[in-house]
Amino acid sequence: MKRIAIIGGTGVYSPDIFKNSKEIEVSTPYGNVTLLESQHSEAIVYFLERHGKNHKLPPHKVNYLANIYALKLLNVERVLATAAVGSLSEKLSPGTFIILDQFIDFTKNRPSTFFDGSNGVVHIDMTEPYCPELRNILIQSCKSLKINFNEKGTYVCTEGPRFETPAEIKMFKILGADVVGMTNFPEVVLAREANLCYATVAMVTNYAAGISKSILTHKEVMDNMASMTENIKKLFLTAIEG
Ligand code: HPA
Repeated sequence: MKRIAIIGGTGVYSPDIFKNSKEIEVSTPYGNVTLLESQHSEAIVYFLERHGKNHKLPPHKVNYLANIYALKLLNVERVLATAAVGSLSEKLSPGTFIILDQFIDFTKNRPSTFFDGSNGVVHIDMTEPYCPELRNILIQSCKSLKINFNEKGTYVCTEGPRFETPAEIKMFKILGADVVGMTNFPEVVLAREANLCYATVAMVTNYAAGISKSILTHKEVMDNMASMTENIKKLFLTAIEG
């Protein structure tokens, strides 16, 4: 049986995504991780809430190392992640899904590697940070479901938890970023270090600061997210079946 994990970001908590799931706890050298385990279409599927139960952990406090290590211990091969993002382009409107293909790291102070020197000096290739095979499955699934999506996009990860200034957004745009969020790094890197096939669907919840005329609130992010959750469920079910 295939072993697949979903890492649900902001707004994607749906434990009801799969029927008859059971809660399991995995202990790792970095801490314990609670997940839901279920079965769907010839696959064992694990659901992990990135921010912990009831969204308690802010982006800079998420235990990324424990989360990825737990998936590795569970022999997961593929990981489908979601990430709420702000859009840096008027062309990428709220409601759009983006199958990320590149990232830029602007975080400041997060443990971000399994290779901290205790197990030798290792440098991981990041030419294609996201698993091309899984990205392709997501792209085909979006097409068949007629979801409004972009085949690629560059994600800039900020430290948060505050939102960005318009000046920062202007700079990120010049640097080539398409969307901004606070959680995809170091998750994407750790997944690669753990040799997991990992892809992220970025969900545009708002225009980033200064792109839209109005002030950005967490409520706006959550309201727009709510309308996208049905599509993300359909997309993941189709991808898992594919
Ligand atoms: N900035 C950072 N993170 C986000 C945003 C944003 O505009 N929207 C959703 N997550």
